[in-house]
Formats: sequence, C-alpha cells, structure tokens
Amino acid sequence: MPLVSMRQLLDEAARGGYGVGAFNVNNMEQIQAIMEAARETKSPVIVQASRGARSYCQDRFLYHLMLAATELYPEIPTVLHLDHGNSVETCKSAIAMGFTSVMMDGSLMPDGKTPSTFEYNVKATREVVETAHAKGITVEGEIGCLGGIEDGHGAGLDGLSHLTDPEQAVEFVRQTQVDALAIAIGTSHGAYKFTQKPTGETLKMDRLIEIHKRLPNTHLVMHGSSSVPKELQDIINQYGGKLRPTWGVPVEEIQLGIKNGVRKVNVDTDNRLAMTGAIRKVFAEKPEEFDPRSYLKPARDAMKKVVAQRMTQFGQAGHAGDYAPLSLEEMAKRYQGNGKPLAA
Ligand code: G3H
Ligand code: 13P
Ligand code: ZN
Repeated sequence: MPLVSMRQLLDEAARGGYGVGAFNVNNMEQIQAIMEAARETKSPVIVQASRGARSYCQDRFLYHLMLAATELYPEIPTVLHLDHGNSVETCKSAIAMGFTSVMMDGSLMPDGKTPSTFEYNVKATREVVETAHAKGITVEGEIGCLGGIEDGHGAGLDGLSHLTDPEQAVEFVRQTQVDALAIAIGTSHGAYKFTQKPTGETLKMDRLIEIHKRLPNTHLVMHGSSSVPKELQDIINQYGGKLRPTWGVPVEEIQLGIKNGVRKVNVDTDNRLAMTGAIRKVFAEKPEEFDPRSYLKPARDAMKKVVAQRMTQFGQAGHAGDYAPLSLEEMAKRYQGNGKPLAA
C-alpha cells in the first residue's frame, strides 16, 4: 500500500485506545529496523525525518527508501512524517517531496531556538494546515516549548519554563484545526532529560491530563519520549563511551499519557543509544573488523529490539491490519467536508 495519512492512523489509535511510536530515521538501516519491528509485532508505523535527517541523507534517497519499505512491507500502514518543520516553506517542501504528514513547529521562530508568539504560531500553522489538508496531508502543531538544545530543537530552556498553557492549547486547536498537538510537559530532546527519576515536579503529567480534559478529541503528541534505559547507557560506557548518569521518561508515564489522549510518542534517542552501543561493542571486541556490515547489522538488530519493545509497550502491536487506509485524495475530500475527517 502507498504511504498513508497520519490523521487516519491516529484516529484508529484513538478508537483502539493505544499510542503509536514515531521513530526518527536518517538511513536505510534505521528504516529497516523499524519495518522489521513492525512486521514482527504487526504494528502500524510512523517514520519521521527531521530537517537534519533530510539534509544528511538527501530527500530523494529518503523518499525512495520509504517507497521500498511500502513495497516490501505491504501489510503495514506506514506514515512518512516531517519532524519539527521550522517554517511554512520547510513544510511545503516536505509535502512536495511526498511526506504524508508534517509538523509545523511554530512554537519557535524559524531559527529553531527563539520562542515565538502565539500569533506567529497560529498564522504559520494555519497556513500549513490549509496547504496540507487540500492534499489530504496531516498536520501536527506545537504549543509550549520543550527544553534542551543539544539536538538543535528547543530554546535552550529548562523543560519547565515554557509548559503548555491548557487554555492557549484549546484556542490554538480552534484557530488552526491541526490534526495533532505536541505539548510541553517537562520533557526535552536528547539523552539528558532529568538528573534523577522524574517526579510530578519535573514531569508534569497532571498538565497533560488537564489538556486532554479540555481537548478530548485532539490527538496529543509527546516529544522527547525516550526512556534512556540504564542498560543501553551501560553498554555504551562499558565499551569506552562517556555518558553521564541520566534519566529519561519512564515507560509507565508514557502509558499514563496514552490513557489520557497521547496518540503519538516521539522516540529517537533510545534508538541512537542502542545502535551506538552495538557498534562500540563490535569495535571493542573485534578490532580486526573493517567491513561496515559487521557493525551495522548488530546496530540494526539492536534498534529493531528497542522499537519492537516500544511498539508493544505503547499498545500499537497487533493493530496493523485493523483498517483499510484511505487514499490522500479521499482524505482531502473529507477535510473539505467539515475539517474532521474521521471518527476521533
Ligand atoms: O527532535 C529531534 C530528533 O531527535 C531529531 O534530531 O535534528 O538531530 O535529526 P536531529
Ligand atoms: P528523544 O530525544 O527523547 O528521543 O525525542 C525525540 C523527539 O521528540 C523527536 O521529535
Ligand atoms: Zn521532538
């Protein structure tokens, strides 16, 4: 089947009461790891690429790798999503390239660092929604700012200074008609999220629950949702790495989020850790090796294991065959109808 609408996939997740992992990719091995995990667990899939990923592997390579994924895994509904689009132009270029979903991250200015105004965010997001929905493409918006700056997304703030205001969230969704809404509840991108296991003081699940109460029909998105497992940190450090002690978002908190409207869960760092640990292990144990396959294959296997585990924990496992995906043309028609294409 061709690449599918994220809106329909999230509507189905809402109907089934589960969450869907959105995993970042930059190369063939990562795409293969996700698709193999999806086949093994019978999961619908969201593959996402950041601006950095698009420039690292070039859009055309990425797009054609994704077409290969849809040919080789025809039973898996697969979305190609733009992660953290920094401007209307970036989103439009992804749509032109064939992405079936885009994130307009108007919570920051196009530099990806400076917090924007509510008015700027609404205007930019609204413009992307108009262009995207006319083509049946899904749009994710963001209100509030995540913490952290290490990966270039975030204002260099601590995770708590720009939490999502629930009232603003309601107004943002009303004015933009986004399909999914990323919210800031204390998480940040990268490995260094919390200096100890998060508590209600540092990870604001109560804020998420409040937003869901006010927006029960909006698909919520949790960014910065890697769990940064100690086992993965340990493998890296055991084989010469230098990670400082750190904590991520516990899976049980994500599961609480899923019970309260979270439908898309963004995970990149856990997969980076898994691949790097596997590669370090080969380099340390077999220093005579120089065939890239000798370390890329274990790296791909390690990522597949993490992705399959998350798919099971988020509840998407077993749901790949639940529904017949609509064409993007059909989605465009439904958006024209009343802006609410499906049942959510
Ligand atoms: O949102 C951040 C993702 O982890 C992507 O990071 O910009 O380094 O590709 P990146
Ligand atoms: P992590 O760094 O926690 O994996 O978050 C990824 C993310 O939010 C991508 O948008
Ligand atoms: Zn993110």
